[in-house]
Amino acid sequence: MLQQEEKPTGNGKELPYRYDGKLKVMGKATYAAEFPVKDVLHAWMVLSTIPSGEVVSMDTTLADRSSGVVKILTPFNAPKLPGIKPQPPAIRKLSLLQDRIVYYNCEPIGLVVAKSLDEARYAASLIKIKYNTTPGKLSFDKRLDQKRPPKQGNAPPKEDHGEETEAWAKATTVLEQTYTTPLHNHNPLEPHATIAMWEGENLTVYDATQYVSGVRQSLAKHFALPLDNVRCIDPYVGGGFGSKGSMWSHVVLAAMAAKVTGQPVKLVLDRTQMFGPVGGRPATTQHIKLGTDATGKLVAMRHNVIEPASVMEDFIEPSAQQTSMLYECKQIAIDTELVDMNIGVQTFMRAPGEATGTAALETAMDELALKLGMDPLELRLKNYAEKDPGEQKEFTSKHLREAYKDAADRFEWSTRPRTPGTKTEGNKLVGYGMATATYPANRSAAMAAIKLLPNGRIAISSGTQDLGTGTYTIMAQTVEQETGIPWQMVDVKLGDSSLPKAPVSGGSQSAASVMPAIQDACKQLQLKLATLAITDSTSPFFNAASDDVLLSNGELRSKSNPSKIEPLSASITRNKGAAIEEKGSGEPSQEAERALSAHSWGAIFTEVAVDKTTWMVEVRRVVATYDIGLLLNQKTGKSQLEGGIVWGISLALEEDSHLDNVYGRVVNNNLGEYHVPVNADVQSIEVNVVGIPDLKFNPQGARGIGEIGITGIAAAINNAVFNATGKRVRSFPITPDKLQAA
Ligand code: MOS
Repeated sequence: MLQQEEKPTGNGKELPYRYDGKLKVMGKATYAAEFPVKDVLHAWMVLSTIPSGEVVSMDTTLADRSSGVVKILTPFNAPKLPGIKPQPPAIRKLSLLQDRIVYYNCEPIGLVVAKSLDEARYAASLIKIKYNTTPGKLSFDKRLDQKRPPKQGNAPPKEDHGEETEAWAKATTVLEQTYTTPLHNHNPLEPHATIAMWEGENLTVYDATQYVSGVRQSLAKHFALPLDNVRCIDPYVGGGFGSKGSMWSHVVLAAMAAKVTGQPVKLVLDRTQMFGPVGGRPATTQHIKLGTDATGKLVAMRHNVIEPASVMEDFIEPSAQQTSMLYECKQIAIDTELVDMNIGVQTFMRAPGEATGTAALETAMDELALKLGMDPLELRLKNYAEKDPGEQKEFTSKHLREAYKDAADRFEWSTRPRTPGTKTEGNKLVGYGMATATYPANRSAAMAAIKLLPNGRIAISSGTQDLGTGTYTIMAQTVEQETGIPWQMVDVKLGDSSLPKAPVSGGSQSAASVMPAIQDACKQLQLKLATLAITDSTSPFFNAASDDVLLSNGELRSKSNPSKIEPLSASITRNKGAAIEEKGSGEPSQEAERALSAHSWGAIFTEVAVDKTTWMVEVRRVVATYDIGLLLNQKTGKSQLEGGIVWGISLALEEDSHLDNVYGRVVNNNLGEYHVPVNADVQSIEVNVVGIPDLKFNPQGARGIGEIGITGIAAAINNAVFNATGKRVRSFPITPDKLQAA
């Protein structure tokens, strides 16, 4: 059943490379900040330098007189906004100069608008700010006792299945440990950026976003405009990872400045501003307790998470979520508590919940296997969930067993040394580890439009986004698959809120949501072309039954008599030379959503080498097999999964935003000191997929692949490090100092 590793691509069914690849390689893809806009002014955000308190005064005398300055906005002169706030994910609570309160360090408290960026930035340095400082809530780990239940959030705050005391009494082996992950900041290569322009009461923004119609909706609410007056355009996104799934303060501030100055305004965050004014992934402290009977069968599980939350707004990284469904167990309890902090509002980051949650849970499973004297893979198979134990529902499709087997065989798991610290190569300790990966399969309603153009090309459009994930590629490929019109003849348009509405490109849902709409649009076009043909006496299809006329191979063809064909140019001629347009839509069946649980799965095996002197960890080999339904494109899809794994290596060994306990600033707020893997950190990654379509989930049988790649891998590395060294680190990232001290 497994798809071949080297299945040829570009065979007419799969695009051989990224649809937008050539433009990007040539530097011709236009990102939000790059749109040429006449008379554009440049804005620079003034950020707070205290973590908590209020702004008493802002003296702009010198700054106002500085070269090129057009306008300086502060809490003392900024226009009052109507204050109607939409819900996330369109926005998080923003800082819009509406009051003088400072909630966190590096919070926007002013905006300098000037003729050039340099002039704006210099003038900002001349502003004299006086604060009333109040003590900030800054240390997370020292204030865990101040935890409280969430006020609101996106995670099941507390889940408890079964009779807890009774269940724990049955446990003969209990593993109880605490694991931590640090604050992360997304850092896509393209920083957040906005160009805002007004024409009367119409607002247009070019904005780096994962959700064009969300930005449109949020701006409309903030400025009390009808939705039709606002447009958000963003055809190319230089990465997002969740940071661009919500709209942040700078977008509204740019629009405000454009309104006040009567000129277009461009606001681009610099790298340091990617740590503060936009949210990151909260740190987590995860307490896990697992109990089994003598055979290794889980009888009770508990996963408690404590996280920092901004004093402005609760956000939950739902790290315990997967624990309610990953393994068969009758008693599962999860909950999340928060510790208030003077930090900005936190947000989604790639696989929010499962990335950090599997790092902890899958390390705990390894520790449990060791306690039981069981093989870690055997323990997982022993507790394999045939149906979702939390929701008590069947899965749409689950082939994790096949994934475990395929990856274990390719990795030759059974031949590894089971006793930790026994395999050496010179000064290196070599070890092997494994873990389970998982991420929910999400899908939302989406729409698309299709147009057969007089020149024979076909235009497909949807108000979705491509943040580097391959939406363009898959849209073109789907049109070719549905119509037989070669992808080179397909013009794809996306990233514009004036196009038919599509959901946020978050939760790995774009392919699964938008492609059914495109399939439907192709179907509608076929029906329209058939109707035109069967009512035209000059057509070979005159008077044919409409379901006998197919659109395939890029032409009309009779189903009953395949030799009867008509070129699409005849349809255009029949339509008096005008384009032929149709719309399509797709949405998940609510019935199926209620009845079934939809998730993706993966098995990850890693080999590490740890230097006995420096305790540096080298990830030599990663072998992973995913059950993600049908993989739409072998080349770009596997590359997406590999990218997730690279980020998992990052979570395991490198990423760590250091918030200082005095000022509440990220001290390593740059790509020199905020470490992510470079080529030398990434060696062999071999990804495979099970490839069985999940037709209960969507018509293509394809579940999203954007996020699952980052899950499981951090634990697989951690477990391999333990197998290599006999040392267990429970605080990510696993840095040499922690390993040496362990
Ligand atoms: Mo992704 S963190 O759901 O944008």
